[in-house]
Amino acid sequence: MKHQDDLEGIQLTVDAAAKALSEAKRVTVLTGAGVSKESGIPTFRDAQTGIWAEFNPEELATPEGFLANPPLVWKWYDFRRKLLGDAKPNPGHYALVELEKYVPKVTIVTQNIDGLHQKAGSSDVVELHGSITRFHCFDNQHEAKDVPYELEEPPSCHCGSMIRPAVVWFGEALPSKAFTRGVTECEFSQVILVVGTSALVQPAASLPMAGYNRGAKIIDVNPETNPVTQISFLSLMGPSGEMLPKVVAVLAKRKGQS
Ligand code: APR
Repeated sequence: MKHQDDLEGIQLTVDAAAKALSEAKRVTVLTGAGVSKESGIPTFRDAQTGIWAEFNPEELATPEGFLANPPLVWKWYDFRRKLLGDAKPNPGHYALVELEKYVPKVTIVTQNIDGLHQKAGSSDVVELHGSITRFHCFDNQHEAKDVPYELEEPPSCHCGSMIRPAVVWFGEALPSKAFTRGVTECEFSQVILVVGTSALVQPAASLPMAGYNRGAKIIDVNPETNPVTQISFLSLMGPSGEMLPKVVAVLAKRKGQS
């Protein structure tokens, strides 16, 4: 009996989420590591296996860590790029692509560096923490193209500075254009989906509040409660690869009827 109540509860929440989305003109989707979990991508801490187990990721993923031992940090990113391998988007990523059919403006603002939203086909993706497959130089942020993988150490830029992965390290500011865009999208959205993020790492964690303060309805999609749950209008407690397709299926039906 309890199981059936739970299922009915989930269905009611899914229906309410679809209704809110069907009425929205602008939706922002904030995503974190959880949305890629069902694609088999280990988070940064889970990825510390084998020879890398003895290193602390918070020391490697810093400008100081890179300058202290450039070949080490270079090889660690090579290793993580390999872990990403040919990971494929999962049904959660694809449901967010589908959402674009039913909402006039959908923007994905992601903390992930894995590029899976773009691979799935989302048309407007703002990367807050950069991308593991792009590079720029350390001193001047000159973009570097066609950087070969599996080098023993970072190559040099034409300006002489070392090339590094174009990701945001601990202690570094987020790219200001991306962050400002994220805030603006949240402020002007009627609904904000917060998917698979522990909402603990600032300043990305402040984005749901920026929308909430302007009256946006927050929908949290996460198997665990987290700080965003408290300000959420609805909480879809389950894996995003299951929850998002359910919501979009109901939305498609509603829109088909209207
Ligand atoms: N579907 C949805 N959410 C999930 C799933 C799933 N299948 N599995 C786990 N989660 C949730 C967890 O409950 C957790 O709240 O995803 C969240 C992942 O949290 P973090 O690992 O802290 O990821 P994130 O919030 O993206 O971290 C932010 O911190 O590690 C740094 O720079 C890194 O961008 C990252 C940032």
